[in-house]
Amino acid sequence: MGTAEEFLDEDEFDARPFKDELDHKPLDRAMLGAFAELVVGDGGGPVGDLGCGPRRVTAYLRSLGVPAFGVDLSPEMVAVARRGHPGLRFEVGSMTALELLDGELGGVAWYSTVHTPPELLPTVFAEFHRVLALGGHLLLAFKAGDRLRHLDHAYGHDLSLDIYWTSPEQVAGLMTEGGIAVTARLVREPDEQERPRQGRQAYLLARKAPATR
Ligand SMILES: C[S@@+](CC[C@H](N)C(=O)[O-])C[C@H]1O[C@@H](n2cnc3c(N)ncnc32)[C@H](O)[C@@H]1O
Repeated sequence: MGTAEEFLDEDEFDARPFKDELDHKPLDRAMLGAFAELVVGDGGGPVGDLGCGPRRVTAYLRSLGVPAFGVDLSPEMVAVARRGHPGLRFEVGSMTALELLDGELGGVAWYSTVHTPPELLPTVFAEFHRVLALGGHLLLAFKAGDRLRHLDHAYGHDLSLDIYWTSPEQVAGLMTEGGIAVTARLVREPDEQERPRQGRQAYLLARKAPATR
């Protein structure tokens, strides 16, 4: 086990805005810490950081002793992640069709569904259900609310990006319908960095339930 710092080295500008963010978010670290403890306590199976972005959560989980690897839709994000931590596994892939075996892992989707239209969430959760081991743990972080914001410019680049705020009750309901039982939920107020635009932040800890029939 090492410190998060060891696992998240200095990088090019892409990763920098995210690098120290968790240091200022004790409740986020608490949810990740509880998730890590549950995974390690159950034998520490591999954990997919699904939609890993520049790797901040993959690196943080590794620092907690969780054998995490990252998957992201964006080859550029995967390149940033690999460059920052060449020793770790990062792959290009989609949460809607993961190149992973059935029942292979535990998972984290840390703010990765924020670009997913709500009508596609059942597809994503069906895929999470497929790749999770029975009893495997899942941690989902997202922006709580009910709105959509479109960006044409961010992080110094022109782009086209939708960001969704979704209701924790609705997301928990979809996960439960998909056979992933919610075991804990946290909704916190925005911190100073997130205020005034971001609003409340939601975290659902869940577990793949046995089939009921
Ligand atoms: C807001 S970022 C969060 C990144 C990282 N999880 C974090 O918290 O730092 C969302 C990430 O999800 C990725 N993503 C979006 N849709 C995806 C999909 N269908 N499959 C895999 N990754 C996806 C994006 O490329 C982006 O890196």
